Amino acid sequence: MNQIKHIAVIGAGTMGNGIAHVFAQYGFKVSLIDREKSILNKALEVIEKNLTRQAEKKQIKSAEIPQILSSISLHSKLEEGIVHADLVIEAIIEDLEVKKQLFRSLSEITAADTILASNTSSISITQLAQVTSKPEKVIGMHFMNPVPLMTLVEVISGQNSSQETIDTVESLTQKIGKTAVHAKDYPGFIANRILMPMINEAIETLFQGIGSIEGIDAIMKGGMRHPMGPLQLADFIGLDVCLSILNVLYDGFKNPKYAPSPLLVNMVNSGLLGVKSKAGFYLYEDPKNPIVNPSVKI
Ligand code: NAI
Repeated sequence: MNQIKHIAVIGAGTMGNGIAHVFAQYGFKVSLIDREKSILNKALEVIEKNLTRQAEKKQIKSAEIPQILSSISLHSKLEEGIVHADLVIEAIIEDLEVKKQLFRSLSEITAADTILASNTSSISITQLAQVTSKPEKVIGMHFMNPVPLMTLVEVISGQNSSQETIDTVESLTQKIGKTAVHAKDYPGFIANRILMPMINEAIETLFQGIGSIEGIDAIMKGGMRHPMGPLQLADFIGLDVCLSILNVLYDGFKNPKYAPSPLLVNMVNSGLLGVKSKAGFYLYEDPKNPIVNPSVKI
């Protein structure tokens, strides 16, 4: 089994910074890569803030924070960041063509035994693997948001992922305090095949005027004991990410039940992306006290 010591994470957005945080916390060397320097700097600030919160909750010692931060290096050039990596985890935008382009480059510039993982929410691992010269080394490692808090990783084997690659990634998942659950490579895998139709139905329920934003979320929280309502969860995931996943399900199964709600499409087109754009179904000027967004028009 491969010895994994150094991880390169590509994409320092919502997921990339969380993935880098967790590996650094568990003693791995991490190269965090993004094409935008400002995003890299912001990611490190977010990691520091989240580590401080963990220290306040006594989950880690404050004295450990400088050491954890110093094990993360920031890179805006791909070649520089992946040079020593035993495992590369891709967490860039949810777009098949953009991800394929990256996997093509990774296949050319990584060592033969470097494992290439994607944090994709729904895109076919097999298709990403096929553009590389080592499909047996390509796998899905789907972390949940927020990564430092969530204990599950959905591990997706493509048609050609080797058992060695699957075993290496599952054992690594345990080393960072998380549980791996295996899924086969079909649209949406397990997590989003179940979650996204629920979110889409909540949006459709709002679109048809059957309930209000607060009402729909209150029913799922109070009535089903969900910790967060589906509309707020959609904001948290990113409405653009939700739309991309629904499109993958719709295209992959050719079943109209997965068609994205027209309201979701309109919101994404108008730049309402959720927490990351400070506005979605709720407004997040103060992220701790979201208020219903009155401009969501049906
Ligand atoms: P994001 O939009 O917050 O971050 C993406 C980052 O990738 C941006 O910082 C962007 O500058 C960077 N980027 C884009 N193309 C790049 C390239 N070619 N090279 C280097 N950097 C590049 O996106 P987010 O939400 O972190 O999602 C990333 C991936 O994780 C997607 O595949 C998404 O489906 C998946 N995911 C998202 C979850 C969520 O709750 N947001 C949950 C689980 C998986």
